Amino acid sequence: MSTDALLHPGYFSDGLDRIDPLIADAIAREKRRTRDVIELIASENIVSRAVLEVQGSVLTNKTVEGLPGKRYHAGAENVDAVERAAIERACRLFGCSHANVQPHSGSQANHAVLHAVAEPGDTVLSMDLNAGGHLSHGASANASSRWFRFVHYGVRADDGLIDYDAVVDLARQHRPKLLIAGGSAYPRALDFAAFRRAADAGGARLLVDMAHFAGLVAGGAHPSPFPHADIVTTTTYKSLRGPRGALVLWNDPALRKPIDRAVFPGMQGTPSLHIVAAKAVALGEALRPEFRAYAQAVLANARALAARLQGRGFDLVGGGTDTPLMLVDLRRQGLDGALSAQSLERAGIIANMNPIPSDAADLQRMSGLRFGVSGATTRGLGRREIEAVGDLVAEVLAGLQRGPDASAAAEEAVRRRVAELVAPYPTYR
Ligand SMILES: Cc1ncc(COP(=O)(O)O)c(C=O)c1O
Repeated sequence: MSTDALLHPGYFSDGLDRIDPLIADAIAREKRRTRDVIELIASENIVSRAVLEVQGSVLTNKTVEGLPGKRYHAGAENVDAVERAAIERACRLFGCSHANVQPHSGSQANHAVLHAVAEPGDTVLSMDLNAGGHLSHGASANASSRWFRFVHYGVRADDGLIDYDAVVDLARQHRPKLLIAGGSAYPRALDFAAFRRAADAGGARLLVDMAHFAGLVAGGAHPSPFPHADIVTTTTYKSLRGPRGALVLWNDPALRKPIDRAVFPGMQGTPSLHIVAAKAVALGEALRPEFRAYAQAVLANARALAARLQGRGFDLVGGGTDTPLMLVDLRRQGLDGALSAQSLERAGIIANMNPIPSDAADLQRMSGLRFGVSGATTRGLGRREIEAVGDLVAEVLAGLQRGPDASAAAEEAVRRRVAELVAPYPTYR
């Protein structure tokens, strides 16, 4: 039977621009948008052409359940090879013996770990969202807090740093099943050994969520959470520069069944095999020598931007950074995060408003801005350009402080300088 009556013309042959001009146009405009601005959103990066390509491959069509060699569906030999490669590369890159590469997102990876090591109602100790933790670490709006009894540690009011003695005390007092280290807006290196001591003091397993700094760990620019952590989770799309999704990593063979079963069938059904393949490609890229240089450059750029912002009078939570991200406390400038991010966007600098620890501002405005340099570093911006970005941020925010006319003028002037600054650094053709 001919497929003419079943499939629209060009089903197997035509590209998106012919089939769906609306979506094709949005993608083209997104490409132009990212070409002309400086992206400083900490959870973004720019994947390689190869990582992009594999996500549009025929692997998107394949359905399996289970793990390589133990699938519930036939025809899995090619995707088995793909998933095995992803697992093997993840283990080699991060120096561990087990990996699950199926989680669709960082949140699902964290939920899977919670269900692997704790029973509903058990106590979990994690960083407060208000101190820089993540939603999936037991925030009141997140499902994790409905399943488990979360107790939170914060950061010290005077220096924005974790008080490890306080974490030990909370662990002793509450005896959690799991202690979670890591967050979305904590810029300094975590003391993994201190977290291990706290976990041991409370009889807990230790999970390190290294979503933001995984690329630095991979490239040797940040200490590894292993051997201190029992389990490590990470998203794959931030400094690790892969597709959207996540990994769970660990060493103890006793955790293999609980974690694998918590991912599937616990949290998820079928894996996205085109994404698993893209993870494999990105992990392969991260094993190359160039990635070590990239990780060093990310850290150097982050520190350069932090130092320049401090030099221009901004307070940084935690006093600086050891990771790709930093958190600017805008209270001294009398600005809020929302208006600042909007003004920066008009000037071509893309960042997100963020609460600072114990933020008193309302949630729609916030008192902080979060910047990350993983994407800008991939694009090729080096220390000189990143310092110039710090100056441009300062100019835009100074304009905002002076009032609407000065703000509009600063935005326009900076927008032109941003275009000049990024023009020598093209990405995809
Ligand atoms: C520390 C941390 N963990 C987990 C996640 C969740 O990732 P996802 O948005 O993929 O669920 C994030 C996201 O930014 C994060 O910062």
